[in-house]
Amino acid sequence: MSLEEKIGQTAQRGKSSRVKELPSELKEAVRKGEIGSFLNIMDKNDAKELQRIAVEESPSKIPLIFARDVIHGFKTIFPIPLGQAASFNPQIVKEGSRIAATEASTSGIRWTFAPMLDISRDPRWGRIAESAGEDPYLTSIMAKAYINGFQGDDLSSPTSIAACAKHFIGYGAAEGGRDYNTANINENSLHNTYLKPFKAAVDAGSATFMTSFNDLNGVPASANKYILKDILRDKWGFDGFVVSDWNSIIEMVNHGFAKDQKEAAKKAANAMLDMEMTSTSYQDHMKTLIEEKKFSENELDVMVKNILRIKFRLGLFDNPYFDPKDDILYSEHHLSKAKEAALESTVLLKNNNNILPISKSKKIAIIGPLANAPHEQLGTWTFDGEKEHTVTPLDAFKKDESYKILYSDGLSYSRDKSNKKFAEAIQIARSSDVVLFFAGEEAILSGEAHSRANLNLPGAQEELINELQKTGKPIVLVIMAGRPITLGNILDKVDAVVMAWHPGTMGGPALKDIITGVVTPSGKLPVTWPKEVGQIPMHYNHKNTGRPVIPEEFVHMDSIPIAAWQSSLGNTSHYLDAGYLPQYPFGYGLSYTNFTYSDINISSKTPKMGDTITVSIKVTNNGEIKAKETVQLYFRDMVGSLTRPIKELLRFEKIELAGGESKTIDFQFSTEDLSFYGPDKKWITESGDFKVWVAKHAHDETNEIEFTLE
Ligand code: BGC
Repeated sequence: MSLEEKIGQTAQRGKSSRVKELPSELKEAVRKGEIGSFLNIMDKNDAKELQRIAVEESPSKIPLIFARDVIHGFKTIFPIPLGQAASFNPQIVKEGSRIAATEASTSGIRWTFAPMLDISRDPRWGRIAESAGEDPYLTSIMAKAYINGFQGDDLSSPTSIAACAKHFIGYGAAEGGRDYNTANINENSLHNTYLKPFKAAVDAGSATFMTSFNDLNGVPASANKYILKDILRDKWGFDGFVVSDWNSIIEMVNHGFAKDQKEAAKKAANAMLDMEMTSTSYQDHMKTLIEEKKFSENELDVMVKNILRIKFRLGLFDNPYFDPKDDILYSEHHLSKAKEAALESTVLLKNNNNILPISKSKKIAIIGPLANAPHEQLGTWTFDGEKEHTVTPLDAFKKDESYKILYSDGLSYSRDKSNKKFAEAIQIARSSDVVLFFAGEEAILSGEAHSRANLNLPGAQEELINELQKTGKPIVLVIMAGRPITLGNILDKVDAVVMAWHPGTMGGPALKDIITGVVTPSGKLPVTWPKEVGQIPMHYNHKNTGRPVIPEEFVHMDSIPIAAWQSSLGNTSHYLDAGYLPQYPFGYGLSYTNFTYSDINISSKTPKMGDTITVSIKVTNNGEIKAKETVQLYFRDMVGSLTRPIKELLRFEKIELAGGESKTIDFQFSTEDLSFYGPDKKWITESGDFKVWVAKHAHDETNEIEFTLE
């Protein structure tokens, strides 16, 4: 390969998803071997023609690889990733990404920019919607599920697509939840929290990685040798290739880390960032950098080999073209899996007086801007999903004549501030037995560059709920949103709360089944749900501090006596106004039945280093209906050479039990699973005291057991 061709392999070009026509200069560039990959080429004929030019007319006949953001479905849209994480069901996630891969590959796509594995502890950050939430273990399990689904058993199968673990790294720690912002992450948190899911991605065989936009502790991720070379390549042995994010190399000029694009290219190349997405700094400057000995052709060869290795593994050299037959799009099987995913992702947060499920005898008023919003319920990053195929909750109820429903949206869209339609909504509420209020955020309010400083229901939704409450009818609030929503102003006004996230194509039928009790909700929160924005960041796996909260001593500011003495208030880590608890903890979610946990047991109270430990628990479904439950195992390392979190998720298992049925679950883990990245920059398990809890959520300490590691 000539030097120009090698540089060409590092170039990913494309069009913005908004541009339809394929610029003719792109064909010419492929012919000269100047492009290695494309993104967002969605016209099948264009993709075929570009590939033909590459493999028949370019100097070395190297196939192109076509990429696309296939994040939670291609045409058949599954719940947003935050919702899928709430399923705590990796099998469903794997099946969903497998379906996404088979659908996307009918358009020639062999590479997706997913999964996003950024630990997200700040719901103001719009991209929390694309994440698996706040927990490194849950995110790691989801990472494996997505990657196995996208890549299948055999990456060279024409229906498999290469995964891309992104964004490496620290993007979710953006200051203040403002997108693209600085991430300051100390060594301890970097290894013990943020890197973990990415290590899981390497172990699961993720073919590619993407760098993030942010700077990490002062060094932009796209030129960060420590993470790209020392950790990803040298320590973890990653042998796929790394792509930049959109223009993230040249944005290092804005970061003030490179004086111009040439210097940005030099710094990124020196960190071994293999492929440049959209910007052309490698193309424009690599040759000169090599001539000036600021980079070597040998190093470029390593980058090109990384890229070609994945093209070989994808089988593109043997079979560069794709089968455009697309009768599988929106197939019955795909739709039923999307429905299953939406069912398992739905989290029941409140259910006073068992108002849910709603029986057929009740007359239902369906109200709210998300009740019939086919585009919105698909959520962020759904370039290809079509609203014409979406089934909304209103559609689902209308289709079933056994339900008596009345409908009025009350507000045209989530940000609508007008009360013009309130009267009609109130009217139908009055003539019904129960109100189903579909509230939330439109899809555009979460996702990239869509951070919010307030997390309440936008527009006049709270106002309308307040008005509806005055009718005296019970209200079931169903939320469709890309993040937790602060409910302080309305929580007491509603009888039930269901979190549906943005549930995707089949969200309507899934929600109808949950609301009417055909299926019992089983989702659990993958993220702490704050009461107020001011509490953020808030995550269950925080440190204890020197002055942890003593609940009995907490005094709310409304109860502080006037002219109180300065230190009469307990002096612990809390807010005077918002207290110390979130609205709902990580792992929380109700059911229509009642599960009890009993007979907790541990294989040894004094295990030795290297042992496998088993914690068992009996789980009983005390109700009459079949239901699923996610049983969670947490641990705490009581004393460490670095302070340890007050709780860490160690294992979970989702089980299904018939009414009255019991099952004993054995959670197994090794002492290595208790390790952390310590002060000596090594992973260590320290002997000493540990606590474990088998729990319904992160704040449940009913079933606790202690052990001492010798
Ligand atoms: C996003 C990436 C995405 C890329 C390509 C960027 O703006 O940060 O997550 O994969 O665009 O669309």
